[in-house]
Amino acid sequence: MKKELLYEGKAKRVYQTDEPGCYLVDFKDDATAFNGEKKGTITGKGRLNNAISSHFFELLAKQGVPSHFIRQIDERQMLVKQVKIIPIEVVVRNIAAGSLAKRLGLAEGTSLKSTVVEFYYKDDALGDPLINRSHIRTLGIAQEDQVAELEQQALRINEVLENYLFTKGLLLVDFKLEFGVTSEGQVLLADEISPDTCRFWDASTHEKLDKDRFRRELGSVEEAYQEIWQRLGGTTA
Ligand code: TMP
Repeated sequence: MKKELLYEGKAKRVYQTDEPGCYLVDFKDDATAFNGEKKGTITGKGRLNNAISSHFFELLAKQGVPSHFIRQIDERQMLVKQVKIIPIEVVVRNIAAGSLAKRLGLAEGTSLKSTVVEFYYKDDALGDPLINRSHIRTLGIAQEDQVAELEQQALRINEVLENYLFTKGLLLVDFKLEFGVTSEGQVLLADEISPDTCRFWDASTHEKLDKDRFRRELGSVEEAYQEIWQRLGGTTA
């Protein structure tokens, strides 16, 4: 049922399908960082990110947060609802790390007094710059009510995932979400939720179990992705 390739990104391919209103997402082992400057492969990442994202989308659906996820097709592929991606990356942060730690001069690991929500303009040529609501208005990339909806959904997703992950001995440091709009105009969580797009730290040792191991050349990259999947109850193949 897989038809022509519609889009190829750094970590996924999106295909047209025979099912009306549905796309097929194929997760790749390719990894990039720093806007594509650093390139590599993380063996097994496609399979693990497909499994981990499917698990989170199912969990969120049970908690009343719908997403584009329909079902897993095989090890590397999931069927999703067709949406038009809003070119805004929504980042939610509970603990200072990465670009926030740098920008605000906070030590990595400082817990944030209140949850931080940020918007980045999804544009590779510009290097995904940080933007605010007036930038979004000026660019005309989302309606005011849609931005409010993005923020509300992102905070609810944070609540569900942070609490759930804590029961698995993991801290949800921060993460990035993307949303799309359905043909009926509904704003729907899309893309993926995986160690590529989240920072996960072991709750007691603060060991990094996410893509920062690749970005910062920390070693044991594959093992970290496998560890996350195992903590969520998955079995390693
Ligand atoms: P940052 O601290 O580098 O801004 O990253 C914040 C979060 O967003 C972190 O969990 C990693 C995720 N992220 C992506 O998913 N894609 C990206 O291109 C970047 C820069 C970050």
